[in-house]
Amino acid sequence: MNFQTILLNIKDRLCTVTINRPDKLNALNARCKSELKDVFTNLRTNPDVDVVIITGSGEKAFVAGTDIGELTTLNAQTGKEFAIGGQAIFDLIQHLGKPVIAAVNGYALGGGCELALACHIRIASENAKFGQPEVNLGIIPGYGGTQRLARLVGVGRAMEMILTGNQIDAQEALRIGLVNKVVPLAELSPTSEAIARTILSKGQLAIRMAIKAVNATMEVPLSEGLKIEAAIFGECCSTDDFKEGTQAFTEKRKAVFKGK
Ligand code: COA
Repeated sequence: MNFQTILLNIKDRLCTVTINRPDKLNALNARCKSELKDVFTNLRTNPDVDVVIITGSGEKAFVAGTDIGELTTLNAQTGKEFAIGGQAIFDLIQHLGKPVIAAVNGYALGGGCELALACHIRIASENAKFGQPEVNLGIIPGYGGTQRLARLVGVGRAMEMILTGNQIDAQEALRIGLVNKVVPLAELSPTSEAIARTILSKGQLAIRMAIKAVNATMEVPLSEGLKIEAAIFGECCSTDDFKEGTQAFTEKRKAVFKGK
């Protein structure tokens, strides 16, 4: 695959996706969104990849939002379609069936914050800044921000970020649970990769099923979520990985998972 706005690196079942428009702080233009869609559609079924890291090019920005230049001509109908199109890409990421780690290396504003929110784990560098500044442009977050941010950090904190448009720094993002960890910029890539490698050492069927079960918390009430958990738990119990994992424990050896 050959892209203009995205760099791909696949090594030992880990794919790093780098959004590569550093001169525009990696803002998501139409080309970039279309390429992101193609990349993640491929990664969904790519047998060589089990975990994905997504990051931005350069030392300043993860993604500084959707490309503002492309917003100006939107009307009621095209604006709705614009939001639905972006939501579909971020849904694809959330429901990829494989873990996606956001390595947030600077500004994560607007669509950048929403992209990080659609990922399963967020690691931030100390210089990262998060915000939903859409109200400054007379719009609201349209790529899932009003929904995912509130679910992750609570309605009150999401309201404050969305209504003020203020940015928060990495430490504040950590404090409110928007990110999992904050590290110096130089440590961002190795830390994200270490987490990816830990996940890669597990049975990938269980990993995929765990994502499916946890994702359900976004969609259904607790009683339904518990039913989904029990059903998926049952599915796990029918796998070779389950037999291997439990057997390896009793035999005091490291499990060798096959993803079956
Ligand atoms: N869309 C399009 N271009 C963007 C952009 C965006 N969301 N964010 C940054 N850029 C471009 C700038 O226009 C500038 O391009 P230029 O050099 O051709 O003029 C370049 O990226 C560098 O940005 P600049 O504003 O000069 O950097 P800065 O360090 O002074 O400020 C920000 C950084 C992130 C505070 C500022 O760029 C900004 O506010 N961006 C918009 C953020 C936003 O509102 N995102 C949500 C959109 S819905």
